[in-house]
Amino acid sequence: MKKTLPALSFKNYFRYKIIRVSLFASCMLLLAAAGFTSAWGENYTLFEKSCGTDNSTVKKVLIAYDTKHGSTAHIAEKIGDVLCENGLRVDIRLAYHVDDISAYDAVVIGSPVYYSTFLPGTLKFLDRHKATLANKKVAAFVISVSVDKTTGKVNTNVLNMITSTVFSKFPEITFIDPVGLLPGKFYFKEIFPVEIIGFKLSGFAESGNLMNDDFVRAWAEQIAPLLK
Ligand SMILES: Cc1cc2nc3c(=O)[nH]c(=O)nc-3n(C[C@H](O)[C@H](O)[C@H](O)COP(=O)(O)O)c2cc1C
Repeated sequence: MKKTLPALSFKNYFRYKIIRVSLFASCMLLLAAAGFTSAWGENYTLFEKSCGTDNSTVKKVLIAYDTKHGSTAHIAEKIGDVLCENGLRVDIRLAYHVDDISAYDAVVIGSPVYYSTFLPGTLKFLDRHKATLANKKVAAFVISVSVDKTTGKVNTNVLNMITSTVFSKFPEITFIDPVGLLPGKFYFKEIFPVEIIGFKLSGFAESGNLMNDDFVRAWAEQIAPLLK
């Protein structure tokens, strides 16, 4: 005997269509999320550590940083090591984890440049603590890949850019001279395909790991005595 399916009423047909469209849209959203995660999901360590002697005779320094792809975490650790070798006590923390900075004699903040400004973790840190930072020694290091091809050092125009987008917003804070302009790493796979064209047009033709521990050490040794 031939079985026939009961005809769907208009209401049920409409419901069936909505369920199908919702299922399709959910699958597309999941696929988009998976693609987005793989583009941005490089493994890196959200790094926190302390070094140096912890007693009242030693000056205490906080290194507060933010990162998206790990270069700034790596560089924060190297800076911390050099400051500890130079007799300071150092806590390295993610900027958005720090609530109280009153115990520190000096603060070093570090952020990579993303779209001509700092990452939100460091911007919010500066905003939250600006009144306290006004009375402390404050140094800053800035990670980018706008490097001079011959020296491998970051172009000083990055400093002008960050002065206008970040430092000028916190006139109460005096940043120790020199600001650390340090190269990081940058891979085209970390940005959306359409952005690659824009990046190439603005001179970011190269990608790769441009980090240089010698530049990091040189800057940290320069600022160590200024933090005491
Ligand atoms: C989406 C994106 C935007 C960026 N924007 C800038 C920029 O405006 N200026 C610049 O000098 N570097 C820019 N960079 C380079 C980053 O500063 C560099 O990759 C840095 O090493 C990233 O630090 P992180 O690994 O700690 O996240 C950008 C990188 C990415 C992925």
